[in-house]
Amino acid sequence: MKKLIAGNWKMNGSLAANAALLQGILPGVTAQACDVAVCVPAVYLAQGQALLADSPLALGAQDLSARESGAYTGEISAAMLRDFGVRYAIVGHSERRQYHGETDAVVAEKAQRALAAGITPIVCIGETLAEREAGSTEDVVKRQLAAVIHLNGHCISEIVVAYEPVWAIGTGKTATPEQAQAVHAVLRAQLQAASTQADRIRILYGGSMNATNAASLLAQADIDGGLIGGASLKAADFLSIIDAAS
Ligand code: PGA
Repeated sequence: MKKLIAGNWKMNGSLAANAALLQGILPGVTAQACDVAVCVPAVYLAQGQALLADSPLALGAQDLSARESGAYTGEISAAMLRDFGVRYAIVGHSERRQYHGETDAVVAEKAQRALAAGITPIVCIGETLAEREAGSTEDVVKRQLAAVIHLNGHCISEIVVAYEPVWAIGTGKTATPEQAQAVHAVLRAQLQAASTQADRIRILYGGSMNATNAASLLAQADIDGGLIGGASLKAADFLSIIDAAS
């Protein structure tokens, strides 16, 4: 299956910095054999839409509202994202779960809103260090994914899953390819039990993926791409990861 490399810029950038970054990335992605997306801060979606028009680079958002429309001050709906040509939306990133109290149920609703608007949700799941050390990694990721499967039924074949061990995010500590593959295999089996189309669901790895470790992670049987934070802010590093996936 075609791999997906998605950059998660998080709360970084400016009009000038984004333009420079995309100018560095775009010439390198013309004939790539993998799908590529950048998930930009919401205020820069219009800029992203303009700069990525007619390019092979897809535009993504980092979050969306669990509500459809109405009196939800500060929220951004799936339909609004769609208006700006957004193709992917990260949902349930661990930073949203940790700092904004997002529960499994809210994450499942966000995935549903994205799907209803024709946006591919990149559903993030992953265990904390304490959970890994307690031996509950499998239980945690299966519970997180089960909530999304339960609410979305057969539409589950349209999602992307991102396994991001919380202890590996932004820490420079990457899961070994074997550690990541072990969890991905569990997730694949869970998806297979829920959908006959499970083999086309991409399961990304995220957490300190970089130009050096990308190839060995992406070589694993059930690692179908990457969700890249820090390394997606440097054009050369991001392009190396895209190369490793192509
Ligand atoms: P990182 O972030 O690559 O900087 O670890 C990944 C993510 O949080 O999506």
